[in-house]
Amino acid sequence: MTTAQIREAYLKYFEDKGCKRWPSSSLIPDDPSLLLTSAGMVQFKPYFLQQKQLEEPYIGTTTVQKCVRTNDIDIIGTTGRHLSFFEMLGNFSFGKYFKHEMCDWALDFSVNVLGLPMERLYFTVFEDDDETIGIWKALGVPEDHISKLGEDDNFWRAGPTGPCGPCSELYFDQGPEFGCGSPDCAPGCDCDRFLEYWNCVFTQYDGQEDGTLKELPKKNIDTGMGLERIAAIMQGVQSNYETDVLRSLISVGERLAQVTYGEDANTDLALRIMADHSRAVTFMIADGILPSNEGRGYVLRRLLRRAIMKAHLIGVDGPFLNEYVDEIVRLMGDVYPEIVENRELERKLILAEEERFGSTLRQGRSYLEDALADLDGKVLSGDVAFVLHDTYGFPVEITSEIAAERGCQVDMDAFSAAMEDQRARARSAGAKDAEAAWSTYGGVYSDVLNAVGATQFVGYDNTESSAKITAIIVDGAQARSISEGQTGEVILDKTPFYAEMGGEVGDTGQIVDGQARAYVLDTVTPEAGLYVHRVNVGAGTVSVGDEVVAIVDAHRRHAIERNHTATHILHAALRKVLGDHVKQAGSYVGPDRLRFDFTHFEAMTHEQLQEVERIANNEIMDAVPTTIYETTLDEARAQGVTALFGEKYGEHVRVVAAGDFSQELCGGCHVSNTAEIGFVKITSESSVGANLRRIEAVTSYGALEYVNRIESELRETAAELKVPLFDVSERTAANLKSFKELQQAAKRGKEAVSDDGINALLDLAVQAPAGYPVIIAKTPAEQAGGMRHMWDVVRARMKEPGAVVIASVANGKALLLAAGTDEAVAKGFDAAALIAAMGPAVGGGGGGKPSMAQAGGKNTEGVEEALSIARNMIL
Ligand code: ALA
Repeated sequence: MTTAQIREAYLKYFEDKGCKRWPSSSLIPDDPSLLLTSAGMVQFKPYFLQQKQLEEPYIGTTTVQKCVRTNDIDIIGTTGRHLSFFEMLGNFSFGKYFKHEMCDWALDFSVNVLGLPMERLYFTVFEDDDETIGIWKALGVPEDHISKLGEDDNFWRAGPTGPCGPCSELYFDQGPEFGCGSPDCAPGCDCDRFLEYWNCVFTQYDGQEDGTLKELPKKNIDTGMGLERIAAIMQGVQSNYETDVLRSLISVGERLAQVTYGEDANTDLALRIMADHSRAVTFMIADGILPSNEGRGYVLRRLLRRAIMKAHLIGVDGPFLNEYVDEIVRLMGDVYPEIVENRELERKLILAEEERFGSTLRQGRSYLEDALADLDGKVLSGDVAFVLHDTYGFPVEITSEIAAERGCQVDMDAFSAAMEDQRARARSAGAKDAEAAWSTYGGVYSDVLNAVGATQFVGYDNTESSAKITAIIVDGAQARSISEGQTGEVILDKTPFYAEMGGEVGDTGQIVDGQARAYVLDTVTPEAGLYVHRVNVGAGTVSVGDEVVAIVDAHRRHAIERNHTATHILHAALRKVLGDHVKQAGSYVGPDRLRFDFTHFEAMTHEQLQEVERIANNEIMDAVPTTIYETTLDEARAQGVTALFGEKYGEHVRVVAAGDFSQELCGGCHVSNTAEIGFVKITSESSVGANLRRIEAVTSYGALEYVNRIESELRETAAELKVPLFDVSERTAANLKSFKELQQAAKRGKEAVSDDGINALLDLAVQAPAGYPVIIAKTPAEQAGGMRHMWDVVRARMKEPGAVVIASVANGKALLLAAGTDEAVAKGFDAAALIAAMGPAVGGGGGGKPSMAQAGGKNTEGVEEALSIARNMIL
């Protein structure tokens, strides 16, 4: 049987038994205590805890769940059994069927559908579970095929707390030739003889934080069969990597590296890692995980880098992972449409990471080469290996391999110690997170939800409704009533108030009961389905059981709706202009503005922004009616409706469409015609992290206000500049240009009279035969005023009273200045006579007194000649 046939046979078998076929949930779990979805039961935790009920007539559910497990990442590839990404076939009962049915069906499916020979099947049960031993025996399993194992093997938990229970596992005997030969070899042994393929958990407890087990109200079933493992058994191959799907991925690597699988242990290891990791990475990106340095983004980045490193070691350099993406999409796209829908994003993100890591790889390699070159002896320190691991993303076995090529080895004990330190730090941080996260399942909101049930939302079509108060919370505890001046939370049986969700802010308004009035400041859902109105009571008292009128601030809501529909339109316009790799990565939709974060790899150009704005406004001005309808997820997908990146959807979805232009799955509030938006204006575009951009925009009155603000700024500036409105930029540019010129001139003038400039002049002083010092020189001054200023400074600093004859060239004009102290004049210095003689040399004239005269002329070439005339006259 092919992997696809086994998958379908399993789902169909349990569907026929009365289980509902349920889609795989996202790899990003809804459960904040888990980093990644690691088992089929994760999405059903609320059902095990009886917080949610399965609809009649189903007796349970059946799924094929995408899972990622990376706790033993270093083992992956070294065995044929471990995978980072795998598919888990499961069936789940929430109180309807239990051990008897489960054991019966597991055996029936194994023998009669899969055709596994009964004599090769083995069974383990939890040490004190004699009941299950009895059940297997009654089904015809020989006693020597049943064994008991302890808590490590046969008690299953998803995490430290939550639904858990004893389990019974089914094993396939591959034959003694695969065994370790030990007389004790049996299911549970580490060798390859007995292959565990199906785990049936009898989920009857809720693990508490103090470690005790609380009986769940009902007895449940949680099962998991690794699809790749059972495929290996069915296809008679020794490893998961030789089953149909994974073998095709191994072939991609064979092609890239020009090698043959099965000929060299090292090459095979690399090919397995490349095949496994590329699959995990593709699915993770499709579910909305972006590479980063923390959380699941870090897991993704590590997998990517490990695959790239391994490829590098077998000679595959440069970007190659997209070859895998294409093959994975081809092999699995029909079962998981999200990898097809997000294909462009997968390709682009992976390529960007490969390029980025390429340079880290080179740096790390040179760090390692330096460390190896400096090595005194043959042992590379554990710290170096740890830095390479931690800073450059070099898995230690890669460091070891490169070191081994030089005949060196890594101090693995020291490396492990450094790793253990890091793990201990991560554990203490993670344990706290998990604890905090799990406690959100408890608490007052969960009590209220259990007591009063989910709130009915009636706010899509109405902003006002009658309702009954079902619960009140004050200071974190349930209360009977709440009175004037108090703040607290009110829960209604039905409400027109939209609660903050999917980026759209919660509604505000009033809850009114006769004279009593509670102002709703915000609406939120701390537990899925429970609408909580945060209120401040303005007058009177409201109590549980009161019949009230709930009134949303309709004006504000309409503003939110305009921004929400505009967000969808901008999303579609961005995809048109930039490409299909654009995915929504977050949004904020408030009454005053909207924000939209999306995947894209560079800043948008001004032209692109204008194009997006033009297309979006086009849709608005075309006055397109919006249509909102419910359908199934499969149907919506088939129609090409945009599902939000990283978002999780149930089977029934709500589609919001603005004509053919924009169709999105959305639970929010929208206008009924795009024309109501009036006008959308993008106010900014910026980066909010690697591969993520953000645009902010305003619509309708907000856009009007924004444009008005810009206009009044402009008007004020125009008035200051005394120019018409649309000449502002031209005049500002001209003013700025002259301002810069002035600044430069001022700077040059300052330099001329700077200490250095003056000292340079003073150095040129010579003694005139008439008995006074004189400076005859060219200066960098730009104006006559600058030269006069210079004279003032020089005069004060001359050792004895003297005179100057200075010249400069500025702005195409020659300037001359002669000036002397009274003492110099008394000794015969005559500024006026000098200037009169010098003037013609610069083609101009001037005049003055014996103590100060100046001239200007157009002939800048004549400056030197003018100065030599002065020299002749004085010296
Ligand atoms: N939740 C069980 C497992 O993952 C079935 O093994």
